[in-house]
Amino acid sequence: MKEIFPEDTRGRCDRLEQELEKRFGPGEPVRFFRAPGRVDLMGSHTDYNLGLILAGAVDREIVAAARLRPDGQLNFYSQNLDQEVRTRLPQLRPEPAHGWANYPKGVIHELNKLGFPLTGLDLAVHGTIPVGGNLSSSAALEAVTARAVLDLLKESLAAWETIHLCRRAETDFVGLPCGILDQFTVIMGRPDTALFLDCRSLEYERFPFPADQAALVVINSGVGRELVASEYAGRVAECQKAAEHFRRYRPRVQSLRDVTEADLEAIGPLMPETLFRRARHVVTENRRVREAAAALSRADMAALGRIMEAGFQSSRDDYQISIPELDRLHGIASSLPGVLGTRIAGAGWGGCLISLLQPEVLDNFMKKVVSLYRDKTGRQASAMAVRLGGGPEEIRAEASS
Ligand code: GLA
Repeated sequence: MKEIFPEDTRGRCDRLEQELEKRFGPGEPVRFFRAPGRVDLMGSHTDYNLGLILAGAVDREIVAAARLRPDGQLNFYSQNLDQEVRTRLPQLRPEPAHGWANYPKGVIHELNKLGFPLTGLDLAVHGTIPVGGNLSSSAALEAVTARAVLDLLKESLAAWETIHLCRRAETDFVGLPCGILDQFTVIMGRPDTALFLDCRSLEYERFPFPADQAALVVINSGVGRELVASEYAGRVAECQKAAEHFRRYRPRVQSLRDVTEADLEAIGPLMPETLFRRARHVVTENRRVREAAAALSRADMAALGRIMEAGFQSSRDDYQISIPELDRLHGIASSLPGVLGTRIAGAGWGGCLISLLQPEVLDNFMKKVVSLYRDKTGRQASAMAVRLGGGPEEIRAEASS
């Protein structure tokens, strides 16, 4: 990602404000908002199977400068892409040419449907979440738009309503059949806190993440992701088919969430091999999420790392969301000293890995993982240490330096 603002948040806000006024003319005073990306610590492709997840928001974010307009015009600008999109209310449709701006448009469309009286908007954004890295820059964009529009209108929505609204912006407007992991995590994030969510009951629990005992590093392979939309929808469909298969023998099964390990053993051999593998991943991954949450509650970071490692193998072999570059990078990361575990971030098919490390090896790990990967593959990866961080908020003058 092009790093345009190496300075502090104040600098980023000032630059966005200048861009916004230069491009979209004078208007109401500009206000500033932020929303984070996320890392999933455990629970790969469990959310749309109504299973379990363990994740946290991160200290990488999208910052937005925003103001209302009176003239029905919607103007968007991305500093990272140096790209402008202009459209008009009230009829909003996803348009391929609008790319990233379809996410804020989707949020505005959903807010419109709820009757919020938006008359126009200027929104300029800059992010430090790697785009295409599977760290949910899209959910961050949705969340920062929702927060900005609601605050500017002096309105509010309960956190869960905002989560569902942002998810609908993605599923119904943009058209990706995602689960609730990203929007939930991004909106409910708290500093140094992991979130455990039951995606069926929507009950959740917060677990302190002891940053002094383990560091989190996101390693961006810089490759892949072209397959995400088509492969992702394919996995969703396979899981539905697998659940139907189990339902024939176990009528209580509504989704793969309801399948037990005993069901897997009894019915698995009667199913097509691929569907069985998908189901085995989801069923065992739900168990690993519980185990991971239990490990975190004991601050047993070595156990958490081992569970992440088992999750990686299941995602690679049964769910098949890895690609050769991620496998290579995983092999390199796992060979370095002090690494507790490494798994694939988000949807997979490229993007990032997440490693859990002993804090004292952090600097060495960050250098070595990149240089070894370059030596072995000729490719350029990047490594970034992250801490679990807070959810969307307005950036006020006193908090912005
Ligand atoms: C993407 C989706 C999420 C989730 C993950 C995989 O991030 O948006 O809903 O399914 O992939 O766990």
